[in-house]
Amino acid sequence: MIHKSSLILSLFCIIGCKPRAANQQSANVKEIKTSDIEIDSEIGESLHNNEAAATDQILAAISASIKIEDKNNSLHPPGPIARRDAHPKAHGCVDAKFKILKVEPQLTSILQKGVFSNPDQEFDATIRFSNGNGNPNRHDARGDGRGMAVKVHGVSGARLTNGDDGATDTQDFVMINHPLFFVNDPEHYVPIVKGIAEDTVEAKARLAKILIGNPRETKVIAEITSIHILNPLFEQYWSEVPYQIGTKSSGAKAVKFSSFPVNCKTGVALPIVRPKFFEVPKLLTKDFNYLRNEMINTLKPDGKNSVCYDFAIQLRSTNPSTGKPEDEKDLEDPTILWNGQFHSVARITIPPQQFNSDDQNLQCENRSYSPWNGIAEHKPLGVVNRIRKVVYQAISKKRHQLNGSAR
Ligand code: HEM
Repeated sequence: MIHKSSLILSLFCIIGCKPRAANQQSANVKEIKTSDIEIDSEIGESLHNNEAAATDQILAAISASIKIEDKNNSLHPPGPIARRDAHPKAHGCVDAKFKILKVEPQLTSILQKGVFSNPDQEFDATIRFSNGNGNPNRHDARGDGRGMAVKVHGVSGARLTNGDDGATDTQDFVMINHPLFFVNDPEHYVPIVKGIAEDTVEAKARLAKILIGNPRETKVIAEITSIHILNPLFEQYWSEVPYQIGTKSSGAKAVKFSSFPVNCKTGVALPIVRPKFFEVPKLLTKDFNYLRNEMINTLKPDGKNSVCYDFAIQLRSTNPSTGKPEDEKDLEDPTILWNGQFHSVARITIPPQQFNSDDQNLQCENRSYSPWNGIAEHKPLGVVNRIRKVVYQAISKKRHQLNGSAR
């Protein structure tokens, strides 16, 4: 039987479930503020009340939790090490190709921008697959959102920043295997994080109060934390939050993106097969890292088959009579589902390979992915992405400093 408090805890454990000190201190790692990021009201962005203060609190709470810990030798790499606050358990980093596809002629002026400008151009890419939960010592069979973070190499174009990860020619696409994100107000994020961090009745009560008043957030949390999967290589992943395609001068639109597995030869989408509810207890009897093992088996170097994905862009649906987006709020609220169609713009091919050596696992750990590692033509939009601009860079820097590793 699941204890009620552990059920509540697991519901809220999407971002950060490491034990945290009750008296958290803000580490001196912050370099940027959300107020430094330009808001584009024309495209539909708007600043949230108290956004900057809420972001400071989020960063302070997460930053205080980053420390060298965890001696679990079944992790890759094993501890002790300061890991990511979110998505700390990797199933592996794999090499891939990212080849640009032709799009329907009527969409070229909208979608052939940035990385997607030149059909048939092929980039190298590195993809990190992960579990979302902040506790790396969790069995893969437990319900959780899973991450697919794609780093495309050799990308040219004006950059968003000087490269959050120090690189000057990469474009990251960071995704989870659910179409929606569970926070639509930055002020809600702190009670959620504190509700996880502080094991007090007050913290839990504040958390419950936020969620009772927000059925959409509660629904997304419940959906994401009940995802069970068989193999990270055969899931669909979504950006959850919006991005720009193009720039003001080339014509910018708000879009979301997704990647889904396809047959490498025909390009036909493969069905996503997930375990049934009654099959989950059996998964719990498998190896603690069975998702890594599934990836190793699927990609075994003597195997003939690559794994392929289509990378697709979703345009915002519009009201035909006004020509305006269906829901004006949807850019700032990632709990609202977009109905627009997805258009394939790139084919990802993951060839058979060995990715599980100690060296490769250490390199995987030391990588940094962020929606802000990239070019201006794929600028992240909306409040969640503005918070991520501040948080990802600071947290990545802090864990690299603690581990004495280069970024
Ligand atoms: C305010 C909202 C969010 C916060 C505060 C947050 C926080 C974080 C942090 C601190 C990391 C680790 C960064 C590092 O040390 O390199 C991370 C990683 C990650 N986040 Fe988020 N996140 C948020 C929203 C999202 C959303 C909307 C997605 C959606 C798709 C997402 C997907 C991921 C993934 C896949 C990783 C792992 C990247 C990797 O493999 O290195 N996060 N997040």
